[in-house]
Amino acid sequence: MDLSLKYQDVLSDNKKIKTGGRLNRKTDLGNFEKTYKSEITGIIELTPLEKLFQIQIIDQDERERFSFKPGQFLMLEVPGFGEIPLSISSSPSRRGVVELCIRKQGRVTKFLHKMQRGASVGIKGPFGTHFPMEKFANANVLLIAGGLGLAALRSAIYYVEENRNMFKDIFIMYGTNDPNQMLFTYQYETWKKTDGIKLFTIVQNPDKKWSGRVGLITDLFNEIVIDTSNTHAIVCGPPVMFKFVCNKLNDLGIPMENMFVSLERRMHCGMGKCCRCNVGSTYTCLSGPVFDYWTVMNLKEAI
Ligand SMILES: Cc1cc2nc3c(=O)[nH]c(=O)nc-3n(C[C@H](O)[C@H](O)[C@H](O)COP(=O)(O)OP(=O)(O)OC[C@H]3O[C@@H](n4cnc5c(N)ncnc54)[C@H](O)[C@@H]3O)c2cc1C
Ligand code: FES
Repeated sequence: MDLSLKYQDVLSDNKKIKTGGRLNRKTDLGNFEKTYKSEITGIIELTPLEKLFQIQIIDQDERERFSFKPGQFLMLEVPGFGEIPLSISSSPSRRGVVELCIRKQGRVTKFLHKMQRGASVGIKGPFGTHFPMEKFANANVLLIAGGLGLAALRSAIYYVEENRNMFKDIFIMYGTNDPNQMLFTYQYETWKKTDGIKLFTIVQNPDKKWSGRVGLITDLFNEIVIDTSNTHAIVCGPPVMFKFVCNKLNDLGIPMENMFVSLERRMHCGMGKCCRCNVGSTYTCLSGPVFDYWTVMNLKEAI
């Protein structure tokens, strides 16, 4: 079964992609040829390695038309430095500004971390598949993130907060290596105060100030009581975490089709042209980054 897609196929298929077999789902692609001229309107330092960038499309009409779904990503163009894929971290209902949580890694991201408010950038997208939030209606939802994975999960958290009545119980589970790596700590109180949302955090290596849970993210499953016959889960984080968390979810009786992960492979073009992001013959920029775990298990070398 050839799951590969070419850029031309995508264009001719009027922005809707269908892949074969278990990957048979529509992929929402944005207007991927257009670069929206944008400006950095705010920067919040989250940790020594991560900053939250608020980015506004300059043209008002374009700004109002730009929309995305939780789990989608965009390509951020830094003039003179290059383009990188980044998950959209903000609320899908918030028009006008997108937020990107960016870890300092290499060439482009190091330069971005030196940029100031008012600097010009470009954005393309939104790209890729999204977390199927509509499918989770009337079910319990587990939102599980490790480390930087909270960047991609945050837009789904906004979604469940803003559409609280759509879902049953919501559990946010977040783990990092140490307390200094925890992202968006200033939002935890708000999440906890939302009726029916329970937040659990854990670190592997506590410092002297940490008074919370210590251990691995999978240890958090000992604390939750949930009807797993009616539960969906989203898992974001390093691929090694998927295996452990998804196996645990499977042991609890949650079918793999009800678990969704974001496979963030190295990407260059974001549109099926450069062959950088493939897992086997599947381009994760087009058929992903969000996949159900059953599909991931059937993709060779996915994790
Ligand atoms: C769909 C998607 C969503 C992403 N969302 C985010 C996000 O929300 N926030 C964020 O900070 N980053 C995110 N990334 C990763 C981000 O794109 C890379 O960190 C960035 O491209 C690195 O560019 P650079 O020029 O700074 O580093 P480079 O100079 O290109 O590379 C430096 C080092 O960074 C690491 N690296 C580069 N790309 C990746 C990657 N895709 N995954 C893991 N390690 C990588 C490698 O170890 C490499 O040696 C996402 C990637 C994808 C594919
Ligand atoms: S083919 Fe270029 S990033 Fe997927």
